Amino acid sequence: MTFGERILERAECLAAFTEDEGRLTRTYLTPMHRKAGEQIAAWMREAGMQASFDALGNVVGRYEGATADAPVVLTGSHMDTVVDAGRYDGVFGILTAIECVADLAKRGKRLPFAFEVAAFGDEEGVRFGVTMIGSRAFAGRFRPEMLEARDKDGVSLREALTAFGGNPDEIPGLARKGIAAFVESHIEQGPVLLDDNLSVGVVTSIAGSYRVKAKVTGLAGHAGTVRMPGRRDALMAAAEMALAVEAHCAAQPHELVGTVGKLAVAGGGATNVIPGSVEFTVDLRSGDDAVRRRALRELEDKLFAVAKRRSVALEWNPFFELQAMPCDPRMQAALAASIDAQGIRVRHLPSGAGHDAMELAHVAPMAMLFVRCGNGGISHHPSETLAASDADIATSVLLHFLESYVP
Ligand code: GLV
Ligand code: MN
Ligand code: MN
Repeated sequence: MTFGERILERAECLAAFTEDEGRLTRTYLTPMHRKAGEQIAAWMREAGMQASFDALGNVVGRYEGATADAPVVLTGSHMDTVVDAGRYDGVFGILTAIECVADLAKRGKRLPFAFEVAAFGDEEGVRFGVTMIGSRAFAGRFRPEMLEARDKDGVSLREALTAFGGNPDEIPGLARKGIAAFVESHIEQGPVLLDDNLSVGVVTSIAGSYRVKAKVTGLAGHAGTVRMPGRRDALMAAAEMALAVEAHCAAQPHELVGTVGKLAVAGGGATNVIPGSVEFTVDLRSGDDAVRRRALRELEDKLFAVAKRRSVALEWNPFFELQAMPCDPRMQAALAASIDAQGIRVRHLPSGAGHDAMELAHVAPMAMLFVRCGNGGISHHPSETLAASDADIATSVLLHFLESYVP
């Protein structure tokens, strides 16, 4: 069996650890998170690593280096998913690294660095709204107030972590100092490599983002008796705001993307009631932080103007921000050389999606390898695909990188 075939088989196995019947959804600190983590730890041990859960529910495997005092090179990605996810977002980066270690161990080869593989418990932020909880802690950037974030049932991160067997008090101790390099492999989640007919590519930088919670409050009323002029319909105001987000970002198509991913009428709404209260989210991203910050200010102006004209109140809470992160030039060059060594043309491309690598970039030189995503490049969707042959090539590239990289 090739690296790629085993990766696809294992991704299929992990997809069975889902909290939703008939679709893949695996969120942080749930029984399915535990099951996926236990399976990943078992594969890590089988490959030749020591592996265990840490205080935040991440699974970390370690393959010792040639000497006891060798530096550490870290790789990793996430084992949580979005709701109704594809099979490869996140887990690919974990599974490809396990293949590399299994191959090294089979050959009895030790590297001039200890190689650690992290399976982060949360990257997507689905359950608690804050993203990249695991990698944030590794970067020493976990803020204690994040423990008070609550899921839709009112359970706090602190409560869920304690019930999972984790330990909030040990989170500061997860901060990693002196990591020589962090490299993450991930499916591209877009069509660039597919359109260029290339199996792999080197990431140049990762886009920064804002997440905003917005609430519109109007006036509920009887759908049959309140005349159209003068209505203070919260849903129509939110709809106009959502369209304003789209129009604003569409006017800068190469620089900015904006998404209203959640929109809900309070209480679910009713057919015969004018909506009085609506909540929605905005996800705003750009590779250029100045463009993103300016866009947030301009959007605020536009959305508050909509609220004023429609006589509704707008609460606007940008609650989360990630800076854009450039990848390390020397590591990019090393990945490029490993791609070239497979006889593949080197393609550089930026990442519009967020990744754990953004956090680790705060404490170590960071680089990312992208593998081609099939099916038009679709991701965050069950029809995400990955070819075994591409997974195989990406693993060979990572292995070559590990065997030639000098930290
Ligand atoms: C994670 O997948 C993100 O980019 O939101
Ligand atoms: Mn994702
Ligand atoms: Mn991902």
